[in-house]
Amino acid sequence: MDKIDHLRQHGLFDAKVPRYTSYPPANHFESGVGQRHQLEWLQAVPDGSDISVYIHIPFCKRLCWFCACRTQGTKTMRPVDAYVDVLRKEIEVVRHALPKGVRMGRLHLGGGTPTILPSETMSRLLTDVFAAFEPAPDFEFSVEIDPTEASDSLLDTLIAFGMNRASLGVQDFAPEVQKAIGREQSLVQTKRVVEILRRSGGIGLNLDLLYGLPHQTERSFLDTLASVTALCPDRLAIYGYAHVPWMSKRQVMIRSEDLPGAEARFDLAEIAHDVMVGQGYVPIGIDHFALPQDGLAIAAAEGRLRRNFQGYTDDRCPTLIGLGASSISRFPLGYIQNAAATSAYQERILGGGLAGHKGYEMTQSDGLVARIVEDLMCRFSVCEQSLRQSFPGQSSVIRQTVVSLMNRFPDCFFISEAGLEMKEEAKPLVRVIASFVDKFAHAETAHSAAI
Ligand SMILES: C[S@@+](CC[C@H](N)C(=O)[O-])C[C@H]1O[C@@H](n2cnc3c(N)ncnc32)[C@H](O)[C@@H]1O
Ligand code: SF4
Repeated sequence: MDKIDHLRQHGLFDAKVPRYTSYPPANHFESGVGQRHQLEWLQAVPDGSDISVYIHIPFCKRLCWFCACRTQGTKTMRPVDAYVDVLRKEIEVVRHALPKGVRMGRLHLGGGTPTILPSETMSRLLTDVFAAFEPAPDFEFSVEIDPTEASDSLLDTLIAFGMNRASLGVQDFAPEVQKAIGREQSLVQTKRVVEILRRSGGIGLNLDLLYGLPHQTERSFLDTLASVTALCPDRLAIYGYAHVPWMSKRQVMIRSEDLPGAEARFDLAEIAHDVMVGQGYVPIGIDHFALPQDGLAIAAAEGRLRRNFQGYTDDRCPTLIGLGASSISRFPLGYIQNAAATSAYQERILGGGLAGHKGYEMTQSDGLVARIVEDLMCRFSVCEQSLRQSFPGQSSVIRQTVVSLMNRFPDCFFISEAGLEMKEEAKPLVRVIASFVDKFAHAETAHSAAI
């Protein structure tokens, strides 16, 4: 059987499965887990440990049609400034709940568009963040940058505060594709920001691309990949476009009939893989590529790669604190998501409380499944021995899971030093295989395509 038939037989081209940026996926968070759990879990963070901080800026000047991120359009800075004032208050409340000696291992500004902030507003926000959280020695400060919405003075401010990783949204450079996704952005605009970052030195550069966009062809995508590799990023995320108009209403502007079919999407993903590997990048998980000397490639080689809400990470902090509307915090005991609507979020914080409004409390068995899902997504393997060490009371469940994976997907795995390892040609099926161990996978929820 050839590779495509094999993947088709396992449902790759029909499956709708989660991306597993968390387990359980955020659509299974429950309203019974909220502020009370959030406070307890913040207080339980070990004193002296390092935490990651994520700050969500849910505003954009333009709303790109393809975008599934939680954000809202704004023409003026008034709501943005008001939101940042509330964020500063949230920092105070969260800091108060945490033990004194925690340090900040990571700070990530995401969105929406963090670079929409005027530099004085950004400066106020970052001054408070750094006053609240002392950076750890190997501190990383990363920011999502829209190259069409990043003034010189804002970039200078971020650099002055020590930004050492930048993620630039590109998606695709073909004019007909950009037009069809409502995001026009020239190579010149992108290069301008890349050059500013490079001049300052010591800033890791990530670029985001998408495959599976309307009117994208193999030829046009090869051209985009050539333009992008010429910018020499340290990392690339090449995500499959998730067309979920029932969740992200602006996507109704994208006509389903203009989208490439599942097999054409697969071909585009294969092209991306071949081009990037040909250029010396190491493939990471399902959709990232990194230069061999980049931290992500090193983490992957050392088996330290992890999955988080941005995709893949080498972040080692066990606790992630999400600040801002809709942000998700991850604690060893579970997840908490802040109120999603900006108004509801602001109300909670201005009322003097925390902003958590739903979440998930992990049981021991959820913890085991979460670890198996992360091992599959990050390492394409399941190691029975190391699972038994981490979950000593669950040996028989672990055995059962490994046996059922082998029985259900006999042609996808082989036994190696790593334990049960996925064959190279089966790797595109990893989300389908992860969904097999996911107890929520058969719930009535619609996800994006598996490829
Ligand atoms: C917050 S957004 C981009 C940051 C910044 N506002 C910009 O426009 O450059 C982060 C990334 O999510 C990815 N993304 C957004 N919508 C997506 C979708 N529907 N499917 C897959 N990836 C998506 C894009 O690659 C995007 O660059
Ligand atoms: S891609 Fe960036 S600029 Fe466009 S809507 Fe999404 S977050 Fe906003």
